[in-house]
Amino acid sequence: MKKLFALLLTLAMVLSLAACGGKDAPAEEENTEDTAVEESTENTEGTESALPTAVEGVLTMATNAAFPPYEYIEGGEIVGIDAEIAAAIAEKLGLEVQIEDMEFDAIIEAVKSGKADIGLAGMTVTPDRAEEVNFTASYATGVQVVIVTEDSAITSVDDLFAEGASNVIGVQRNTTGDLYTTWDLEDAGLATIDRYSKGAEAVQALKTGKVDCVVIDNEPAKAFVAEVEGLKILDTEYILEEYAGAMNKDNAELFEAVNVALEELIADGTVQAIIDTYISAE
Ligand code: ARG
Repeated sequence: MKKLFALLLTLAMVLSLAACGGKDAPAEEENTEDTAVEESTENTEGTESALPTAVEGVLTMATNAAFPPYEYIEGGEIVGIDAEIAAAIAEKLGLEVQIEDMEFDAIIEAVKSGKADIGLAGMTVTPDRAEEVNFTASYATGVQVVIVTEDSAITSVDDLFAEGASNVIGVQRNTTGDLYTTWDLEDAGLATIDRYSKGAEAVQALKTGKVDCVVIDNEPAKAFVAEVEGLKILDTEYILEEYAGAMNKDNAELFEAVNVALEELIADGTVQAIIDTYISAE
């Protein structure tokens, strides 16, 4: 079952890469072609940016700022890897960034309705989501891991799949941790899933014994475990994922511009440098 989802994920990534096909060349190179001449004079003169964003001159980013180190609140401000990536993209495009904080499962709707220009939320590319939104190039990988109490009877991911297993699993609602454990375990009669609005709430439920484990992305897992005593992350991984930006399917012009900017930031090492300031290599 796990293998099947991994396969679907890979497929989704290949499809989303195919969707961005032909954009490997940096924008400058594309603009040297004859047909791009009129376009480029339009784009380089006059106002800063004529891109079709929700608010003129602003790149509105939808996120759920409860997911350190990708997005979290510090000193009343939303900071983190995704906020910095959005700022770098916006700078290239001559836009300001406005960040809207919301429930994780409201982000795709915000993008679809055009309220937000991009969802940046450590969001995993999945086939279902790819039907709703256009995913940008992937800028990071994530791993679904299992958090348990130090004295837990659960010692590996396989324990969750064992015959007769009946664990209560805490997750953040509608994240891939929720989706996969629901399909793999709850639907198979091997677990009950407890869904929380925030990952940290699921971790609190683990601490107080309301759930037996939490399935969540590895980086926030590390951050949460560092703050709550008596918890640990299992060595075995549940599944490997790709994070990407989610954008509206009907705004091809903005998608192109943002995706080319992001690909340049990936190629020149800016994205890795941002990630490295938040995540120390082990
Ligand atoms: N990677 C997981 C997913 O896409 C979890 C993302 C949660 N992000 C957040 N900002 N709360 O479902």
